[in-house]
Amino acid sequence: MKVDVITEQYRSFIDEYLAAWMQKFDEEPQKILYDAMSYSMLGGGKRLRPIMTLEFCRLCCGDWKKAAPFAAAIEMIQTYSLIHDDLPAMDNDDYRRGKLTNHKVYGEAMAILAGDALLTDAFVCAASADLPAKDVAFAISVLAENAGSLGMVGGQVLDILSEERVLNEQEVLDIQTRKTGALINAACALGVIAGGGTEEQLQAACSFAGALGLAFQIRDDMLDVIGTQEELGKGVGTDAAKNTFVRLYGLEKCEELVQKYTNVAIEMLSVFEDNEYLIALAKSLTDRKK
Ligand code: IPE
Ligand code: IPE
Ligand code: MG
Ligand code: MG
Ligand code: MG
Repeated sequence: MKVDVITEQYRSFIDEYLAAWMQKFDEEPQKILYDAMSYSMLGGGKRLRPIMTLEFCRLCCGDWKKAAPFAAAIEMIQTYSLIHDDLPAMDNDDYRRGKLTNHKVYGEAMAILAGDALLTDAFVCAASADLPAKDVAFAISVLAENAGSLGMVGGQVLDILSEERVLNEQEVLDIQTRKTGALINAACALGVIAGGGTEEQLQAACSFAGALGLAFQIRDDMLDVIGTQEELGKGVGTDAAKNTFVRLYGLEKCEELVQKYTNVAIEMLSVFEDNEYLIALAKSLTDRKK
């Protein structure tokens, strides 16, 4: 199977959808806001979360193109989380997705507002899905819960609070399942919801997301040490003072853990037929360079 070809098909589909979404606002007087939003959202990013949404929809025998508003909404929230994560008050980073960070180009006020707008508009986008109203309502509540205080934002808070001390294993897991795992969880769950999947499929997708999210963040922490800015498109060594998995376990153990959690994630896919692509995608992330 040509994993890269399928990934590229999904990626260009979602890229086109996002570009078309942003184009609608070309004539607005607050155009600078849309420029700032587009700057971070278009032409960068691996689009892993939206790809998972589209693929889980397909795995549940849904028309995967109908999941596009959900997939795009997740990518808008992902992009907002990165713009805010890079701000001087948070990680204070200069590079993201191969370019200067949003606040470096548009200033802090506009970067904060671009993030606010991406977060809020994401729900307009999700609500526009051509799916049964009860499924759209459920998807929106799952998305909000995973993005909000119990999910990604909660994780970012724990991440910041932990900067001054060394955490134990459970505390690091608590941070990562929220700050990174929650949006991946939403991405997978929304795909199942869009595809009209069963409760069993929803549970399996969430278990897959939980394990994959951990593998993904451990690899992210490793890349902060062993990666290059050129390949990653973001600065390296910037999380040295943070409570990363690398700080907790060291690089070698992290490599084992990435494999372990990826294998756990893959096992969860057994309830889906035709799961070869997602298995191959998960495996390809274990030694990703970006
Ligand atoms: C970066 O996510 C932030 C983390 C949760 C580790 P990605 O590595 O998916 O970043 P993009 O979306 O491809 O830029
Ligand atoms: C950020 O984690 C996760 C978010 C919710 C944005 P990191 O701070 O490790 O992400 P990078 O390394 O800057 O992409
Ligand atoms: Mg951070
Ligand atoms: Mg960061
Ligand atoms: Mg990181």
